This record gives sequence, structure tokens and C-alpha cells, in this order.
Amino acid sequence: MSLPAILSGPLSVPVVASPMFIASGPDLVVAECTSGVIGAFPALNARPASLLGDWLDEITDRCAAYQGQNPDAIVAPFAVNQIVHRSNDRLEADMATIVEHQVPIVITSLGARPEINDAVHSYGGIVLHDVINNAFAHKAIEKGADGLIAVAAGAGGHAGTLSPFALLSEIRSWFDGPLLLSGAIAHGRSVLAAQAAGADFAYVGSAFLSTVEANVADDYRQMVVNSGASDIVYSNLFTGVHGNYLRGSIEAAGLDPDDLPTSDPSAMSFGSSGGDAKAWRDIWGSGQGIGVIEQSSTVAELVARLRSEYLTARDELTARWVAETVG
Ligand SMILES: Cc1cc2nc3c(=O)[nH]c(=O)nc-3n(C[C@H](O)[C@H](O)[C@H](O)COP(=O)(O)O)c2cc1C
Repeated sequence: MSLPAILSGPLSVPVVASPMFIASGPDLVVAECTSGVIGAFPALNARPASLLGDWLDEITDRCAAYQGQNPDAIVAPFAVNQIVHRSNDRLEADMATIVEHQVPIVITSLGARPEINDAVHSYGGIVLHDVINNAFAHKAIEKGADGLIAVAAGAGGHAGTLSPFALLSEIRSWFDGPLLLSGAIAHGRSVLAAQAAGADFAYVGSAFLSTVEANVADDYRQMVVNSGASDIVYSNLFTGVHGNYLRGSIEAAGLDPDDLPTSDPSAMSFGSSGGDAKAWRDIWGSGQGIGVIEQSSTVAELVARLRSEYLTARDELTARWVAETVG
């Protein structure tokens, strides 16, 4: 398995903090990067579009200042997410800003386009594309993406339905580039499991909703802390694409989570009009992994927990392997 230079630097734990609509802004991304995990935000979170360049400057400057004050700290790179959907009327303008600022990692979702990949490659950046099955994975690489994010069952936001083991195994059988696993990872042990199953990194979203740096309402943060896997509802009603949402937020909106009408992809709307922003503000996205989140914390505390759990799991597995095979 080969990794490009930007993904080969040291991390506190092999985690990419995924981009989350509304929730991921400069405070969250800077806290993620300065805690030693790759941070990310959707370009669409910077509204209006003219704010995107300011955010990129702010994140770059704050991370550099932190590194200057803490020369020994691991400060990870950051990524910007582009929704490559025809309803995103900001795509070209945001791409121009991304190229101007030479964003090191671009994450593309809901569409793979060669010209987006070419634009990022023009300054030496890399593109990670998220996919929910092996066929989309093949298409993304054919169109020039450098790496893949396998979005498995249980992921927050728009999620797949496949088992992570099945999805990773199918992709790894032909792809030896950067591969990330997304879906219900909120414990360091699961980060190690993702690597054992063939991924290079875990792609973690919902766990970061519980942090004080996430741009979410206090009630949302608390619902993430209080909920578990069985409180997550899979529906396409809210955006036209299937995604995972907190049952409590659906009930609070006066809907019956067990009897939701269905929608279809023609309902998808992204871009400068605000699109799905209202739906996502009231109906709260979350993956199934949140049962292990017991309290709200800072990003630094969450990353320290993930790292400690990851190292403990690795030591325990090694000890078990030695005892079983040598002892
Ligand atoms: C509230 C929320 C908003 C999300 N918004 C986006 C988004 O705008 N773009 C995107 O590519 N992924 C988005 N995602 C999906 C994440 O990138 C990632 O696939 C997912 O959070 C990983 O699963 P987990 O939440 O179980 O850790 C979102 C996820 C959540 C929970």
C-alpha cells in the first residue's frame, strides 16, 4: 500500500476527521489539526462563497502559529470537501479558491469529475473521493481520484448500506492506494480494526459532534452524548439521498421516525441557495458509533482518548497473538 507524501506524515492516531455540513468550521478544523488528526470542512459551510478564502487563510495561519509555539507538536494537514453535484452552483468558484490557496487535500462527494481532479493535481494536491460501493470506487479512480473513502453502513450523514468488511475487501482486492473507512468509528479499537480490515485511516465524523469546537446547538451535542446505535434512523426523506439521523430530532420535528415518507434524488439541493441547510439544522445527522461517547469534551481530549484506546488495543492484540501462537 502506497501513500502520497501529504498522508505519510505523523499523526496522533490514524484518523481523518470528516467534513460535516454546518458542524465543521475553522475552530473545529484547527482543533483537529493541532491535536494531530487530519481536519476537514465542506466548502459550502463558508457562506457566502467569498468567505472560503478567509477560512483557508485563518486555518493555515492558526495551525502555523500553533506549530511555531509548539515545535514538537504533531500538526496535521487539512482537507476541504467539495459536493460535486449539479445543484452546487458554487463548485467552480470554490474550486478556483481551492486552487489559489493550494489546499493540500480535497475530498469529493456525490460525483466524480476529471476536471476537479486535474485542478487539484495542477498544484500538487490530492483528491480523496467517497464511495458507497465497489463500482463507484472503480469509476472514481478511472476519473483520476488519488484515494478512496469507503462509506459503509452506519455512517453519519449520507451513508452506505454495505458491511465495512465487504466493502474494504472488495476495494482492496484491486486498489493499493490511500483507502479510508467511514462509518460508526468512535473508539480507538475501531480505528485499529479499520486498519486490520485493509484501510489506511479511519474517517471519523459523528464523534466530533460531541466536542465543544463543533458548530452545533447544545441540544444536538447532548443528544449525541445521550444516544446509541439504536437511536439512529436511516432515511432519504430529508435530502433525497439515504442518510443517518438522530431519532430524537425527528420526533422533535413532529415526525414519526418509524413511519417516514420516502423521497428521491431529484430532491437534492446544494449550493448558494442554502439548499438542504434548513433540513440539516433541524434534523440532526449522526452515525451509529456514538454509543461510546459518554461526555462532551474538547477535540484534544477526544483525540487523546482515541489514541490511548488505539495503542491499548494494539498492545492487547499483540500480547494475545504472542500467547496464542508462541506461548
Ligand atoms: C452531521 C453530518 C454532516 C455531514 N456532512 C457531510 C458533508 O457535508 N460532506 C461530506 O462529504 N460528508 C458529510 N458527512 C459524512 C462524513 O463525511 C462521514 O462520512 C461520516 O460522518 C462518517 O461516519 P460517522 O459519522 O459514523 O463517523 C456528514 C456527517 C454528519 C454526521
